[in-house]
Amino acid sequence: MSLKNIRLEVMQHLEKDVQSLIEKYLIPVEKIWQPTDFLPDSKKDTFFEEVKEIRELSKELPYDFWVVLVGDMITEEALPTYESWLMDVEGVDQVEKNGWSTWVRHWTGEENRHGDVLNKYLYLSGRVNMREVEKTTQYLINDGFDIGTDRDPYKNFVYTSFQELATYISHNRVAKIARQKGNKQLAKMCKIISGDEMRHHHAYSEFVERIFAVDPNQMMMAFHDMMKRKIAMPAHFLRESGESLGAAFEEFSNTAQRIGVYTSTDYVDILQKLLDRWDIGNMTGLNEEAEKARDYLMKLPPRMYRLSERIKIPENSFQFKWVDPA
Ligand SMILES: [Fe+2]
Ligand SMILES: [Fe+2]
Repeated sequence: MSLKNIRLEVMQHLEKDVQSLIEKYLIPVEKIWQPTDFLPDSKKDTFFEEVKEIRELSKELPYDFWVVLVGDMITEEALPTYESWLMDVEGVDQVEKNGWSTWVRHWTGEENRHGDVLNKYLYLSGRVNMREVEKTTQYLINDGFDIGTDRDPYKNFVYTSFQELATYISHNRVAKIARQKGNKQLAKMCKIISGDEMRHHHAYSEFVERIFAVDPNQMMMAFHDMMKRKIAMPAHFLRESGESLGAAFEEFSNTAQRIGVYTSTDYVDILQKLLDRWDIGNMTGLNEEAEKARDYLMKLPPRMYRLSERIKIPENSFQFKWVDPA
């Protein structure tokens, strides 16, 4: 049997449990928060007062902070890219409407609230050149991404396990900075987004765990291949208007590092968490190739920590079109 057919069989085998995993990890529409729970109600007379307060508090937050919040928002707003990608993964079938495509739709429904709430907040903040931000969003959706997972469910679930934890970290850190600057409303908003990301991380990690239980050799190879090529950020093609593909990404990521929202150490911490979570070090009974992959993975964090110590981040802010200089 070809590797592709084995993957399809594994996906079909796991599919019968997906409905219960949706119930375990996702929250029904009637119970989950919505963007307006964290924003001024435009039907109320108090709306303008509340917007004024948002604008006042926004002045307390520094330039780099807004750049990061914009970049995070744009990453969330490129959700059409992620949904269409996941729908195309082997074993996910939107025509047959199997459990996996139900998962992807429900996951998308939850994720969609993130870009929505951040977008509205940024619009009200008065700190951001929304038209430039909107153009970057449209560019990013046009440009798609290249994450090296193919249509392989194993690689895609490694990617999403990693990415959901990365977004948990960054939204959570943004929340902390907002709180320190006395902006409780924004802090609450970003905190609750990070909570969603954590649930999603646990879900995708469980998918991987279940694949390890039935196809450990190939699951190990997929994890190995993804870490060897490095996990690309979903917004790695980020560009501002008039720029070439991906031109804005490095400075966005430098900005996030500079204010400690997402660093190269975080990258290694996430890898270590995944190794622990899937108990990679104790996995036995593998074939020779998978054993080598396991050993490679186990040696990776110390190597990467050493490298990350040497990375120097520019001290000065980079001027984006999204936010006027402080
Ligand atoms: Fe999100
Ligand atoms: Fe997410």
